[in-house]
Amino acid sequence: MVARSVIAGVGGYLPKRIVGNDELSRTIDTTDAWIQERTGIKQRHIAGPTETCAFMGARAAAAALANAGCGTEDVDAVILATATPDQAFPASALRVQAELGITRGFGFDVSAACSGFIYALAIADSMVRCGQATGVLVIGSEVYSRIMNWADRGTCVLFGDGAGAVFVRPGTDRDGGRGILSTHLHAQGALGDLLYVDGAVGRPERSGHLVMNGREVFRHAVAKLAAVVDEALAANRLGHADIDWLVPHQANRRIIDAMGRKLDLPSEQVVVTVDRHANTSAASVPLALAEACGDGRIKRGNLVVMEALGGGMTWGSALVRF
Ligand code: UT7
Repeated sequence: MVARSVIAGVGGYLPKRIVGNDELSRTIDTTDAWIQERTGIKQRHIAGPTETCAFMGARAAAAALANAGCGTEDVDAVILATATPDQAFPASALRVQAELGITRGFGFDVSAACSGFIYALAIADSMVRCGQATGVLVIGSEVYSRIMNWADRGTCVLFGDGAGAVFVRPGTDRDGGRGILSTHLHAQGALGDLLYVDGAVGRPERSGHLVMNGREVFRHAVAKLAAVVDEALAANRLGHADIDWLVPHQANRRIIDAMGRKLDLPSEQVVVTVDRHANTSAASVPLALAEACGDGRIKRGNLVVMEALGGGMTWGSALVRF
């Protein structure tokens, strides 16, 4: 057993095309003012035809590997969280494996909607600590533009496309207190109808669109996310004052601000990308992490708490010393 696994590198990829709120207001009954006031979103990236789940995931993964100072020979597992895979199978993780030229180990996709990255990170952490893997690419990659009902103003303004990734390896003596301190996963299948995709492969009678009861999801999000962050802190005998950074799921600025208040964190210690990325589901947390590590806000030794909630209903948190 390895005592701890370490996040050794982070990376992200965003599609080239940016769509602002005003562009959406030309085709649906909405305004830039409504979207910004209710969600904090100003724009989102939308994937082009070649920017597939696997393409974006591979770009983000390659960036995470480079950031870790590692190469594809160091990878023996690829775990990709997505609700929008390119195909039912093979897993998009294996398309990434092939694209990057990784020839050993294993890979699979994780389906936990917006909590997918936290779930995938928890799996990677367990596998590394028990010795089943020694170098894991953990990826969140999403093409939600494919599952939007572009006539439904209640959902289509909220989401965007993109991918984020981290490289997880076993900790060594030189890492000191660094590493994934704990992860906490939850699900409540009875709440599945609050947020779901009306469709599946081989179900042409279905719309294939995302359906959400936004108000209800909002209500659950604030309560459940606060509880799962406190659960992570309590498990490590830490308190709100110990947190250096909150890297939350980026669904709505109002939820993010409420979380900051519940944790007594000033807004300067909360990483926000929802204004520019919108909600990229499983990609949102690693994309935010990549941004805050890349611009030097998150530094070695910082205590970072990540959280997410999504369809399922699923939710979870991870506490990491960088
Ligand atoms: O990532 C998974 C987790 N997802 C979330 O956490 C999302 C959680 N939910 C939310 O973020 C918010 O509930 C929304 C942003 C989805 C909606 O905000 P809200 O403040 O809860 O608005 P609402 O659904 O209560 O709608 C208020 C009004 C409605 O009109 P009426 O019924 O009051 O006349 C909507 O029809 O706003 C209307 N509306 C819009 N108006 C202009 C809904 N969407 C739009 C729009 N533009 N795009």
